[in-house]
Amino acid sequence: MNARLPIGVFDSGIGGLTVVRALAARLPHENIAYFGDTARVPYGVKSVETIAHYATQITTFLLDKQVKLLIVACNTMAAVASQAIRDLSPVPVLDVIDAGARAAVRATRSGRIGVIGTIATINSAAYTSAIHAHDAAVQVVPRACPLFVPLIEEGWLDHRVTRLTAEEYLIPLVQQDIDTLVLGCTHYPLLKPLLQEVVGGEVTLIDSADTVSEQAAALLASQALANPGTAVDYQYYVTDVPQRFQQVGERFLGRALAPVHVVNW
Ligand code: DGL
Repeated sequence: MNARLPIGVFDSGIGGLTVVRALAARLPHENIAYFGDTARVPYGVKSVETIAHYATQITTFLLDKQVKLLIVACNTMAAVASQAIRDLSPVPVLDVIDAGARAAVRATRSGRIGVIGTIATINSAAYTSAIHAHDAAVQVVPRACPLFVPLIEEGWLDHRVTRLTAEEYLIPLVQQDIDTLVLGCTHYPLLKPLLQEVVGGEVTLIDSADTVSEQAAALLASQALANPGTAVDYQYYVTDVPQRFQQVGERFLGRALAPVHVVNW
């Protein structure tokens, strides 16, 4: 395997750029090929069959681009299609759910963990299974928060409508004495300051973007796959409206985006 090959990162749209941002900070010498399915986002309200079909299409696309590692940045795809993706891939696959579950189990003291995500992610109970695989005694309190994605895409990161929505979704979780909250959706890290205020300082927020980047760093080191080169190349592939991806994406990434390619299936 050529260590100079990029890491393939994929999401239903722009949200996975929070993972690219975390990777860029943790692994600044790695090349990245990012795929965002901007024509078909959001996935979180679609059926398991549809999400799995899209996920295998994207996996095949990135494998054709020759990547050395795949990172499923989308919680919804990881929740319902993780096995299908792994079955297809000859290269290692990491996903945000396993990373987030491990970090949450490490963080909790009370043994009560809240998990928020899209409807598909929460209905799949994938986080509950992943958390229980690490510690069966932990109590998981799940909650779907479908309004967060559109509010974040609108850029309402510190807006009274977002605050009210967050209170509505999260106060019941706090009332159930959670001490850890998993941000189980690519978009949610952008709401961290507001969510922290709503749940209070005693609740630890788990950002899967950070934890999956740590896992990627460990995996590349253990398999001698870290890029020996220094000239870093980021390629972005989307299925529609590249201008909006570029515009909103800069907010997710925290810096300018390289040229964006449009993929016609
Ligand atoms: N990327 C999705 C996730 O992490 C959120 C957006 C969507 O619903 O497609 O669950």
